[in-house]
Amino acid sequence: MEIVLNSPLDMHLHLRDQEMLNIVAPLTSHSFAGALIMPNLIPPVTTKDDLISYKERILQATKNDTFKPYMTLFFRDSYDYDFLKSFGDELTAIKLYPAGITTNSEGGVSGFDIKKLAPTLEAMSELNLPLCIHGETNGFVMDREAQFVPIYEKLATAFPKLKIIMEHITTKESVEALEKHENLYATITLHHLLITLDDVAGGMLKPHLFCKPIAKRPHDRDALQNVALKAHPKVMFGSDSAPHPQHAKESCGCAAGVFTAPIALAKLAEIFMVKSNENNLQKFISDNARVIYGITPPDKKVILEDNEMTVEQKYGDVVPMYAGEKIHWRIKGIK
Ligand code: NCD
Ligand code: ZN
Repeated sequence: MEIVLNSPLDMHLHLRDQEMLNIVAPLTSHSFAGALIMPNLIPPVTTKDDLISYKERILQATKNDTFKPYMTLFFRDSYDYDFLKSFGDELTAIKLYPAGITTNSEGGVSGFDIKKLAPTLEAMSELNLPLCIHGETNGFVMDREAQFVPIYEKLATAFPKLKIIMEHITTKESVEALEKHENLYATITLHHLLITLDDVAGGMLKPHLFCKPIAKRPHDRDALQNVALKAHPKVMFGSDSAPHPQHAKESCGCAAGVFTAPIALAKLAEIFMVKSNENNLQKFISDNARVIYGITPPDKKVILEDNEMTVEQKYGDVVPMYAGEKIHWRIKGIK
């Protein structure tokens, strides 16, 4: 069997920089028409020069493919209307990290004082710039996302015209919040559709499945699968593919992040063709994001077939999810 997807999009992607960028970016640009690029470099992307030069490096690394990087800035409450307006089409969204909550987020927001954030969030509302949030508190690790839901709701109510994307949701509570506020949306990763905490730490510890937010309980995964597989219009695919060198993962202080870029599309085809259908995959992988972000990605047709492939052990020094294992779908061609 074959399916054809039009202009797949990955609306949450870490491409890093330099050598790592050159290894990982082509693995996404081969099969995706575009991706929302996370700004958590060291130092983070906070100026126009940073953003434009990073975009140029991404275009260089992906020059053999039709691929549009949708760029983001690292949230600062000092951004004002004129500064944000000056980016024009170069800026697609702003990513907000609570300080210190995940990889390279040290310069993020502490405290969530709405009054302090308001001027920037008002400017974003006026400019129709979506706010992408890594929604975790610094509470107990399994409860961090659920504890953040009231903050999402407070922001959604205080800034009704601001589109707020709850990034890489992992809980039933976040799924439920989608229904309560018109301006809340979400990305869902491949790995959170597949694994629970048991896969990470239930047997031998699996560092390559360790990420933030940590995978949760079976009923949370069920809630995510439910909205993703029916392609709920407020959810879209965001891989959160987050490469780290092997020594940083297989270490006594394991870096957070699952590297899924090379397998994302084939594995999603496998899941959707067993549990849902091609139309819903098209919506989850592209159409919903086009509507939510108001973007028109470049034309690209990706043909997938239900034929087995064995996942590579490593890409450069990065170990992908399912390294050495079989996936029952694969990319046949790109047009
Ligand atoms: C991401 C990274 O490595 O940049 N890590 C992760 O576990 N997901 C950051 C993030 O999105 O939290
Ligand atoms: Zn991320």
